[in-house]
Amino acid sequence: MRKLFVAGNWKMNLNYIEAVTLADDLKEQLASSDDLAKVDVAICPPFVYLAQLGQVIKGSGIGLGAQDVYFEKNGAFTGEISVAMLKDVGCSYVIIGHSERRHVIGETDELIHQKLLAVLGGGLKVIFCIGELLEERESNLTEEVLERQIRSGLAGVTAEQMSRVTVAYEPVWAIGTGKTATGDQAQEAHKFSRSIIADMFGVELAQQVRIQYGGSVKPDNAAELMARPDVDGALVGGASLKLEAFLGIVEAGASLG
Ligand code: PGA
Repeated sequence: MRKLFVAGNWKMNLNYIEAVTLADDLKEQLASSDDLAKVDVAICPPFVYLAQLGQVIKGSGIGLGAQDVYFEKNGAFTGEISVAMLKDVGCSYVIIGHSERRHVIGETDELIHQKLLAVLGGGLKVIFCIGELLEERESNLTEEVLERQIRSGLAGVTAEQMSRVTVAYEPVWAIGTGKTATGDQAQEAHKFSRSIIADMFGVELAQQVRIQYGGSVKPDNAAELMARPDVDGALVGGASLKLEAFLGIVEAGASLG
């Protein structure tokens, strides 16, 4: 059985004190529960807080993730951060292909693919985001978009590397909007995504890949989503910024785990 995985994507939020306080409180709360035995938990703060928060959560069992990375090893790439730098500060995960990077910053499938290969090549784990826009869903293009994103993003990945990939299905129309996909909509997209992974890597490997759902996940809808057979956790934006809400989602997972 796949262990559920709940990750908090803090995006460009919180100041230094707030970030340290939230990580510290989370560490304390999770230490006094057995949730981590049932659910993997990670936080993905802004780059500038990673080193400090790596120290704060050290030994807690909470994973540390970055929200992005550049694919080159080093050199004249002003403003960019390498995989080795993320490893240096204690990251084990990197989010790749988040919809805000695809649609606000303008990252292409090709750039996302290069980043994904760089992360896996560097030995870290990937949270690989896919998801359709509202107009794509309304034009019945959801499956076409998901298949394109999966095939281009995961091309050339080895079976060993796939064990370090979590896919996050995040319908763009549900991110930060308060609109959540229904359990049925999520299950349908997750099942379809797993079938494409099975086509690329075989059924056995596809059964081991975790597929998180993301898009307005809250404590009151988390259990309904994560109870679906192909929904293996959540990538949480807004609700990951509030201790109680994020813990509520982790607990919803633990109650199913
Ligand atoms: P949200 O963001 O939970 O605020 O909708 C999810 C995400 O973008 O990962």
